[in-house]
Amino acid sequence: MNSKETFPLRGKVNRSISDRRGQMKIALISDIHSNGPALDAVLAHAAGADKIVCLGDVVGYGPDPAYCVRRLRELNVVTVAGNHDTAIGAGRIPAAWRRVARATAEWTQGCLDEAARKWLSQLPTTWEGEGMVATHDLDRSGLSLPFGRQTAPVLLGRIQGGFTAFGHSHLPVGVFEGERRWLSRRLRPNLVYPGGGGTRILFETGSLLAVNPGSVGEPRDGSSGAAYAEVDLGSRVLTFHMVSYNSGELLHHIQAAAMPSDLRSAMFAFFGFPEQSR
Ligand SMILES: [Fe+2]
Repeated sequence: MNSKETFPLRGKVNRSISDRRGQMKIALISDIHSNGPALDAVLAHAAGADKIVCLGDVVGYGPDPAYCVRRLRELNVVTVAGNHDTAIGAGRIPAAWRRVARATAEWTQGCLDEAARKWLSQLPTTWEGEGMVATHDLDRSGLSLPFGRQTAPVLLGRIQGGFTAFGHSHLPVGVFEGERRWLSRRLRPNLVYPGGGGTRILFETGSLLAVNPGSVGEPRDGSSGAAYAEVDLGSRVLTFHMVSYNSGELLHHIQAAAMPSDLRSAMFAFFGFPEQSR
């Protein structure tokens, strides 16, 4: 595959946005999925950031939807709508969703007051500012396409200007123009230091095209922590973090939440808790 195929937008990136030199450090968080302990760990770890941008799916699947919404609202976190947020906020849960997604979405609706549902339903699909564009589903097909040789041209074709931060696939990735490379989930285990300083990538001015910080609440790359990323366009550093948190707390929250036993079992299985711990 040549570079033109891999990066079809070469030369079309909005340089006036990409080259902006500020000192702002932006924390990118995504796919929290009602995992309160994971969100707390990430917010504490990212306390030095100047701004936090959430790329959607605040709720769905996990036991702490009201808490996660409240924390983001308290902290005025810029948040775009994930597909779970939109469905749950508007009360329109797609029939095509898998059983655990549908069941937890219906339960989540009952956990949220009107103000929280309204906040979710009114989240914008995109946000633009600070030299970046934020959106939940870069592909917008609902297929959660991860970056790879086959999908990169399609996904990069969605980028409109500046660098785009997105979520949805729960797989961390950084994409850089001109280097024909991206960090995939296969590379990540060798690059991430759990509980440590993260994976730092120094990029050339204007070369950062897209970032998926991975999932706070439910990483799908085999990691057991909470993933997020920090980007500093001024010093041109992108850092992927994997923060450890007490998953026993999450277990306890599921055990303590009021829900039917079959839903509790499904939630345990979704977060990977072994049968004997339930
Ligand atoms: Fe998600």
